[in-house]
Amino acid sequence: MNREDIERLSAELAALKCKTQKEVEEARVRFLGKKGEITALFEEFRTVAPEFKKEFGRTLNELKQKAQARIEELKAAAEQSGPSEGPAQDLSMPGDDFPLGSRHPVSIVRQEIVDIFRKFGYDVAEGPEIEDDYHVFEALNFPPNHPARDMQDTFFVSAGHLNPLLLRTHTSSVQVRAMETMKLPIRVICPGRVFRNEAISARAHCIFHQVEGLYIDEHVTFADLKQAILLFAREMFGADTQIRMRPSFFPFTEPSAEVDVSCNICHGKGCNICKGTGWLEILGCGMVDPNVLEASGIDSKKYSGFAFGMGLERIAMLKWRVNDLRHYFENDLRFLHEFETATEV
Ligand code: DAH
Repeated sequence: MNREDIERLSAELAALKCKTQKEVEEARVRFLGKKGEITALFEEFRTVAPEFKKEFGRTLNELKQKAQARIEELKAAAEQSGPSEGPAQDLSMPGDDFPLGSRHPVSIVRQEIVDIFRKFGYDVAEGPEIEDDYHVFEALNFPPNHPARDMQDTFFVSAGHLNPLLLRTHTSSVQVRAMETMKLPIRVICPGRVFRNEAISARAHCIFHQVEGLYIDEHVTFADLKQAILLFAREMFGADTQIRMRPSFFPFTEPSAEVDVSCNICHGKGCNICKGTGWLEILGCGMVDPNVLEASGIDSKKYSGFAFGMGLERIAMLKWRVNDLRHYFENDLRFLHEFETATEV
């Protein structure tokens, strides 16, 4: 045993690097274990001549302490950098697939419509699905026992008194609530779920979705309505879309119209989607009847407005050509995943 052995071990200890706990343990065994190099020097120490014992003894003890401290230090560092057992981590490996689901086609269409009208300066309003007769019918100019109520077969929640509760049959009820609560001028769209007592088939369902629109200000005219619908149709169905208006009847608008857009599938030539006509019906609209304005306390001499309403499933059908309404409500994952990345077709 000589000084060089001690110096070499001391230098090796200082330069020692360990990444894992396993490597630290191996180093401890190598230096301080039963058969370790430092342990071996202690064995040899017995044979050192008595006159050198004092000095060597001190140096050897210092080396052992240094080794212990160094091993502790490496152990702490390896602990911090994570567990030592198990295979090394492959950071380039793709993560676990997390089934996120996808947006429902009706939600996609609703969002598109909301985004378009937001651009035009409309706010979004919502109302209750369980409504009273007053907001669904009475305030919208459907007098009691008026035959127009039969246009919308209603689910009643409570019957028999003056203002029964029912499931709203259209989102026009939200325009009444908007007129009651919002400051004029009003520019609002109201998306929501509606209910009608219909037998379920490919073309009818007892639950569906609508978006209602309402604009009330001074001097609003039918020309404003026409322009708003045309701009909407072009944003929704493409810049070359044409619209046409057909006279119609709704108790809450006068005059009333139904709006068709040019068929974006055959571009007016006639196909089985537009039934050979070149046109697709998308919404109902009209100038808000003065009776409706007055019922909600709006001065119909000063203010006028227009309203429109459209079915979201209908728009989704035209967009993706899914022409069985039942698909929208059955939650069949094979159907829903079709729309995973869909924004437009
Ligand atoms: N509420 C009507 C329906 O469910 C749709 C509608 C037509 C809404 C004309 C309107 C409108 O605001 O002006 O059939």
